[in-house]
Amino acid sequence: MSTNETRKPANAQWGGRFASGPSEVMERINASIDFDQRLFAQDIAGSRAHARMLVTRGILSSEDGGAINAGLDTISREIESGEFTFSAALEDIHMNIEVRLRELIGDAAGRLHTARSRNDQVATDFRLWVRDEIDAVDMQLQALQSVLLDKAEAHAGTIMPGFTHLQTAQPVTFGHHLLAYVEMFGRDRGRFADARARLNELPLGAGALAGTSFPIDRHAVAEDLGFDRPVANSLDAVSDRDFALEFMSAASISMTHISRFAEEIVIWCSDGFRFVALSDAYTTGSSMMPQKRNPDAAELSRAKAGRVFGDLLGLLTVMKGLPLAYSKDMQEDKEPVFDAADSLALALAATTGMISDMEPVIENMRNAAGKGYSTATDLADWLVRVADVPFRDAHGITGAVVKHAEDKGIDLIDLSLDEMQAIDERITDDVFSVLSVEASVASRTSFGGTAPDNVRAAASDARTRFMRD
Ligand code: ARG
Repeated sequence: MSTNETRKPANAQWGGRFASGPSEVMERINASIDFDQRLFAQDIAGSRAHARMLVTRGILSSEDGGAINAGLDTISREIESGEFTFSAALEDIHMNIEVRLRELIGDAAGRLHTARSRNDQVATDFRLWVRDEIDAVDMQLQALQSVLLDKAEAHAGTIMPGFTHLQTAQPVTFGHHLLAYVEMFGRDRGRFADARARLNELPLGAGALAGTSFPIDRHAVAEDLGFDRPVANSLDAVSDRDFALEFMSAASISMTHISRFAEEIVIWCSDGFRFVALSDAYTTGSSMMPQKRNPDAAELSRAKAGRVFGDLLGLLTVMKGLPLAYSKDMQEDKEPVFDAADSLALALAATTGMISDMEPVIENMRNAAGKGYSTATDLADWLVRVADVPFRDAHGITGAVVKHAEDKGIDLIDLSLDEMQAIDERITDDVFSVLSVEASVASRTSFGGTAPDNVRAAASDARTRFMRD
């Protein structure tokens, strides 16, 4: 690129002291309009509230205030209908809107920026955007919990193997397994709600960094825009991006839950397991292998977690070295947040659809649940409860019984009483009542346990906690 290219005239918004305009490269690195146009509705809402307050405080005439409002109506319509021409030379959404406003209403437009800077303006717009997004994510998470609850109730008694180390551990119910995710997504909602509460303070009125000499009313603007209060410190107001980081932190943790579930679905529909059948709507075929049905929606939901973590780490890195107050580095806050929000929304939609369509293959789950000596703990517990054996000893005796069954290549329940008594004579016929997977799950009645009755009660409790509004 030549350094002596023809220079453009200076920027009309801030170029008073500039003899010429930016180089083409400067314009490109400086412009954010390609992505921050997503803030247009929030920018217009912020401007309306600011103008209303300026009128109330006698800083702006009501005539100018009316003209500004009417102009913003037109701009809003133009952007929504796709007629608006965005210009990179005007850098960002704030100046694109302001310049258009001047074209539409003339000089009054120039008064809108009284007692305002783009620094407090963008911080306000972005908080409003993230706040809206949090509300949308909350609804999506609730919808996901709702399909999980429906499935959990339908399968409160459907038995599957529970795993630790991905080795068969103890039988559980499919409903119980699904309810574990209802809790995770419930905590995710809590994290987003916490972030929303901390975010809900108004930056506007901080000016560029130091506040303003105009007799503004930040509390009125805060109320107007649905914020709980103005940000207390003007330097903090323009330089804080914690709200964006918190949003992406909450999104990252939620993505780990989505990703873990996606991983389970991938495992469950593999040939070795065949625990679930996915619908045509959430799977794809192979262009070469006609027999294939691939769980792409699960795989991509799992992969999106990586993107969202990257988005968070990217902005953490941008922010960590910035002195107060505003630095242009902070313009790089938007793309990661948009990407994280889009990725989370898509992964949530895909996961919700996939789970709502997903059907367990009950027979395969039940058969697998009986494998791997999954009721060995029930035998040990029986020795403790009925024969008064200390648990450590019971563990050893059961180990010997398992070893014997393993040597014979049969399940615990298929051993004869004689064989078991040869290992420990205290074992009686009653032991067979605890060795089936059905008996095993039915016995797990402790609070939070997997017994079908517990699962039904837990699902109903979860409905009252999570589905109220
Ligand atoms: N487009 C800018 C951003 O997103 C707006 C604030 C610009 N402020 C400034 N002092 N140049 O951060």
